[in-house]
Amino acid sequence: MKYPFHIERTEVSRLSTVDFNNLQFGKLYGDHMFVAECRRGKWTDCRIIPFGNLPFSPASSALHYGQIIFEGMKAFKNPEGEPLLFRPDMNWHRFNSSAARMAMPAVPEELWHDALNELVYMDADWIPQEKGCSLYLRPFMFATDRFIGVRPTEMFKFIIITSPAGLYYPKPVKVMTTSKYVRAFPGGVGYAKAAGNYGATMLPLREALERGFDQVLWTDGVEHKWIHEIGTMNVFFVIDGVALTPNLDGTILAGVTRDCVIQMLKKEGVKVEERPVSIDEVMEAGRNGKLQDAFGSGTAAGITQISHIEHKGELIALPPLDQRPHSARLRDELDGIKNGTMPDRFGWTVKVKSKLLAEVLE
Ligand SMILES: Cc1ncc(COP(=O)(O)O)c(C=O)c1O
Repeated sequence: MKYPFHIERTEVSRLSTVDFNNLQFGKLYGDHMFVAECRRGKWTDCRIIPFGNLPFSPASSALHYGQIIFEGMKAFKNPEGEPLLFRPDMNWHRFNSSAARMAMPAVPEELWHDALNELVYMDADWIPQEKGCSLYLRPFMFATDRFIGVRPTEMFKFIIITSPAGLYYPKPVKVMTTSKYVRAFPGGVGYAKAAGNYGATMLPLREALERGFDQVLWTDGVEHKWIHEIGTMNVFFVIDGVALTPNLDGTILAGVTRDCVIQMLKKEGVKVEERPVSIDEVMEAGRNGKLQDAFGSGTAAGITQISHIEHKGELIALPPLDQRPHSARLRDELDGIKNGTMPDRFGWTVKVKSKLLAEVLE
């Protein structure tokens, strides 16, 4: 291995304490985590160690200026019990695109794949096989320079933690637009998976939750007319048989699931348009009974159907779930591809392979 790993196994596994039949999202963490340091461009000290707290200085730059990026991925087991990753190369590309925008170092491809494969191999018993469940993987990186002046930084930690998880949204979501807040704008960091993008949306999200909605449907910051995405997902609308999704203009995340949905729909012969989509067009279609389907797409959330959309005080209800042309079918096929119960006709799943641990653990 180009980047040697140090391995320290936990003395006492917490696995037996987990109730795999009642998993929620984001509450439990696997036995181990991966940690590496980047010092002045050099990757070093790669290790898999027991999950636990880490010491770092309160002067760490990330805590003050928010140089923090992350990814969200999932590991599954196929019916033969083999651990699978889903399109890990896409997350690697996006991680490094986020890193570049935030003046952080790129994680080398080999390091990315070795870290994921060895960690998931190590904690493979943590991958749930219950319906709708998976081992959520959270790679993230932050600046650790002990310096509280504003300047580009030189020291970083790259960490991957794992979390056995159930459904992110157990039921369809109600979304609302807002013209009070803006998530992203041209030239900003909307396309990056930067922690600050999420921090800035906590208040709008809290206000949406207090009003009985599940998420904000973000629109552009200038006219509040063009739909961007939902706080945790990209978004699709099906109007008159055509699937519409906002184009990647730098303000929204280039979702892995979004790309899957586009490829799946196109393969089925459905017309897909990636273009600016106005909220007026969607509301109008909703009023006229032409809005046949609407759903969010994301790794954590999967394909989540939208039940209602509110815009400028008007609430439209989407058709009943069993009358939607695409969302339920796409969700079932994508879930099936991911957990190896349906043919992977796109070649998206990758079997977890260990270079190191397979020998060490023998
Ligand atoms: C803001 C936002 N948009 C879109 C997505 C969907 O991206 P992906 O399908 O790669 O998970 C996510 C999920 O992480 C997200 O947080």
